[in-house]
Amino acid sequence: MPLSLRFVVPLALALAAIAYAVVPLVDRLTFQWFVRDLDARGALIAKTSQDTLVELLGDPKTARTRVPRYFARIMQGERVYALGFCDRAGRLAYATAGFPGAVRCGDVASAEERNLVLQLADGPLHVSANPIIADDALLGTLVVVHDMSIAQRRSADTRKYILYLFAGIATVVALITVIIAEISWRGWIAGMRALLKGETLLRSPLAREGARERELATTPELRPIARDLQALVLDLEAERHARDESQTTWGPEALRRILRQDLKGDEVLIVSNREPYIHTRRKDNVIEIQRPASGLVTALEPIVRACSGTWIAHGAGNADRDTVDRHDHVMVPPEHPSYRIRRVWLSQEEEQGYYYGFSNEGLWPLCHIAHTRPVFRAPDWEAYQTVNRRFAEVVADEARTEDPIILVQDYHFALLPRMVRERLPRATIITFWHIPWPNPEAFGILPWREEVLDGLLGSSILGFHTQFHCNNFFDTVDRFVEARVDRETFSISYGGDTTEVRRYPISIEWPPAALQVQPPVSECRRRVRENLNIPQQTRLGVGVDRLDYTKGILERFMAIERLLEVEPRWIGQFAFLQIAAPSRSSIDEYRNLDTRVRAEAERINARFGKDGYQPIILRIEHHDAAQVYELYRAAELCYVSSLHDGMNLVAKEYVAARDDEQGVLILSQFTGAARELVESLIVNPYDIEQSAAAMHLALTMSPDEQRARMRSMRSLVQDFNVYRWAGRMLLDAARMRHRRRVLSRGRAAVARRQAGAG
Ligand code: G6P
Repeated sequence: MPLSLRFVVPLALALAAIAYAVVPLVDRLTFQWFVRDLDARGALIAKTSQDTLVELLGDPKTARTRVPRYFARIMQGERVYALGFCDRAGRLAYATAGFPGAVRCGDVASAEERNLVLQLADGPLHVSANPIIADDALLGTLVVVHDMSIAQRRSADTRKYILYLFAGIATVVALITVIIAEISWRGWIAGMRALLKGETLLRSPLAREGARERELATTPELRPIARDLQALVLDLEAERHARDESQTTWGPEALRRILRQDLKGDEVLIVSNREPYIHTRRKDNVIEIQRPASGLVTALEPIVRACSGTWIAHGAGNADRDTVDRHDHVMVPPEHPSYRIRRVWLSQEEEQGYYYGFSNEGLWPLCHIAHTRPVFRAPDWEAYQTVNRRFAEVVADEARTEDPIILVQDYHFALLPRMVRERLPRATIITFWHIPWPNPEAFGILPWREEVLDGLLGSSILGFHTQFHCNNFFDTVDRFVEARVDRETFSISYGGDTTEVRRYPISIEWPPAALQVQPPVSECRRRVRENLNIPQQTRLGVGVDRLDYTKGILERFMAIERLLEVEPRWIGQFAFLQIAAPSRSSIDEYRNLDTRVRAEAERINARFGKDGYQPIILRIEHHDAAQVYELYRAAELCYVSSLHDGMNLVAKEYVAARDDEQGVLILSQFTGAARELVESLIVNPYDIEQSAAAMHLALTMSPDEQRARMRSMRSLVQDFNVYRWAGRMLLDAARMRHRRRVLSRGRAAVARRQAGAG
């Protein structure tokens, strides 16, 4: 049924019912009014004719002729049907022509009521009997008869008019209802559309407008459901994203598609301290390219290749300045250039204060609970601020558009998001914190904690590897700054801005490029043992890390020692190759660690080594990805014993390297990776007995069990690879940008409406 009929039909029915009930009532009322009117008239006629009648009746001789004449005169003036006079004896003494025979003097005189209505065959008559009194003596009764058929006619007219009136009312009300319904309906539809499109400013995480504007933007009737509708839209959006995410085959092409379709080719800038390619000059003056030992670089490189963006980083190599153009740009990778690095130059003092000092002696130990005390010096903080500002200026300088997507990496740039936001207010800033975030008590010792939090909250999206780190961040913000933390929508409102805090577990590319160049596992095993100069049948364990106190290398060695103590059958049969890339070596803690690691390896080797056998083979030097993958493929087990680690990509690389589905991963419970790779042997690296037992278990695990565990972990790393990590962030950025555009359209509509109203 059309909408208008839905209003009109019930209305018409209701009005008809009312009319049906009202007509007899009105009929009765008008009849009564008429009767009352005639009662009064009869009385009036009697009253005014009393004296004359008394006089005329006083002379019986003349009365015969004069009374009828007098009656005729009354009949002319009044609309009277007939008149009659009944004498004291109850006889009709005088009557005008047409006096109804049905009216008998006896009845009239004795009636209690002076007025009565007689229903005759010709119609109803009103009879009014009025006594005529002279000198207190009754002379007779004057009977005034009125014709009531006029009343009947009037009542029929009234009925007709009432029906006309109701029909008229029904038409007018129906018309007004239909017009109002139509207008409201259009308004609701427009309002609903606006809500569904997000063109309302109601409680959107991006809404920064005042309450007045928010109200204007929504049709008032829809306000009660506006939130529900928006929540529904967001849920649907999230559902679509989740579906898209799980149905996508994540690789460089998927990223390119997101950049093309969801981000419409928007500009992407990456900022990190460490650059992906370092140019260094050898002693023989030849310039060499180094790839740094950084999980961050390993993860981001495939992304920036896919989006051909600009990577802004510290130019730390001694030949970096010689290889850039006049804008400090260099195209990489050298084999097939696909993106550019913009190098930022730092003085030695700046590098000392910002990188070694505040970042690596302050924030690094602060965020990693590895029992190395953080050191905070005011000059380091100064340098940290200066360098963050410098990078912010470079970002603004490199940006070709007003609203680029900026991917800020790690603890070196906690202040950068706010500084960039000040320069590029419309940028989408995604900050990823690659290391753990501690609990508020631990973070609270930072003298500039509010400043660091303020800086990070300049981000549009802030990412951590695990939900645990997100929760720690929420707790920290709750504790130290005036902000509204919403754990349901995972967002923080601070100073009029909203930062979404999300979990994005980082990963590696799949399939890893370094795997493409690998020979079969058997060949890797043979080659590695040959290079290490150990017998082919030796069981091999591997550890690959930067030489960092968070990696638990000493604990790992202690576990190896304990293994050989409790299971002496492995002496001579099992060797552990520890690759340690030198790192941050001008910091005392790192230099000390270097000394201690070497000494510990020597001590254990001295204790268990014999005839050329050494249980620990320590290589403190840089290895490239191809070499590392060969080692992974050659080793029966890989032990990742971090005391605290945001994610740890070595664990995922080991799994990715084992396309033969063999090998056992032993993984510290204090890594982010342990939350995903649950089929590994998960250990507490501080528990030396447990770790030694895990190594023994790994060395004796059946090939079938190795395969089952490895297969499941490989499928996880394949599904959740680094393209998905980046893709999810970019999709979230796209969603945010889409909403912002819709909102700004909504704002423009509001402005137009306001201008129109003004
Ligand atoms: C960790 C950090 C990275 C850093 C890497 C290497 O993975 O999260 O930001 O690049 O260590 O450290 P380095 O100080 O040599 O850059």
